[in-house]
Amino acid sequence: MSPESAYGQGHAESVVRSQLWRSVDNSAAYLAPELLPGRSVLDVGCGPGTITADIARRVAPGEVVGIDVSEAVLEQAREHARREGVANIRFERADITTAPELGRFDVVHAHQVLLHLTDPVQALRNMLALANPGGVVAARDTDYAAAFWWPADARLDRWLEVYRAVAHGNGSEPDAGRRLLAWAHAAGARDVTPSASIWCHSTPEERAWWGGMWAERILDSKIAEQAVAGGYASAAELREISAAWRAWAADPDGWFSIPHGEILCRVGENG
Ligand SMILES: C[S@@+](CC[C@H](N)C(=O)[O-])C[C@H]1O[C@@H](n2cnc3c(N)ncnc32)[C@H](O)[C@@H]1O
Repeated sequence: MSPESAYGQGHAESVVRSQLWRSVDNSAAYLAPELLPGRSVLDVGCGPGTITADIARRVAPGEVVGIDVSEAVLEQAREHARREGVANIRFERADITTAPELGRFDVVHAHQVLLHLTDPVQALRNMLALANPGGVVAARDTDYAAAFWWPADARLDRWLEVYRAVAHGNGSEPDAGRRLLAWAHAAGARDVTPSASIWCHSTPEERAWWGGMWAERILDSKIAEQAVAGGYASAAELREISAAWRAWAADPDGWFSIPHGEILCRVGENG
């Protein structure tokens, strides 16, 4: 299986849409103090590149490289950088699990990537090898089992069960956040600063976006196909889950939070 087809989320419009809102402030605040002008940065699994472009603005004139296994999503990232007028950035197709030779960077970063991989520890080893002595490796990942929302709805409980079952069926770990420190230690990182932060979607705009995105994604993405093919849910149940997301989005009391784990690994001067 190619790394692109192994990526369980797929790149349906509803999946990529959920990534376009992302910035350093809402998705990599723990890394912000490291993003100093002149630093070079590798953004692993950059997706549509909104975080990558934000990073590039902060480290300019430092060079930023975004890598991803999907050429289609890289093209979106290039287009986004062009639109935003960010010039100190380039995007290349590369697979972090195969120890790509890309040179060395002051900061090697991955946002919501390790949770999709079958061997996140090896990916972290490869990221550590791409960092300059004295540099940092940073990762932030969702912890799906810890997601919580209001109002209670049994169909949304099933959403979480189905999503986690599909991810586990792919050999990946949707509850990655709590495991990041252990993965960093297993990868050989010695100086690791762990932290956590949370996404909260509760305003009418956020609910329309998040609920609308999941209402589509659970019906029309690789997750939906795998849920049915793996026997985790029927197509009819996915339609009920989709309706539950629309009801949640329309409910003025609707509130959804998902915690993330974060690690900042300092690479010694001697590597
Ligand atoms: C959930 S998206 C996150 C995108 C981006 N980091 C963000 O937060 O907006 C995960 C991305 O990792 C990419 N990816 C998956 N496996 C990869 C691998 N082995 N090497 C590099 N990128 C990978 C996927 O193609 C996808 O674009």
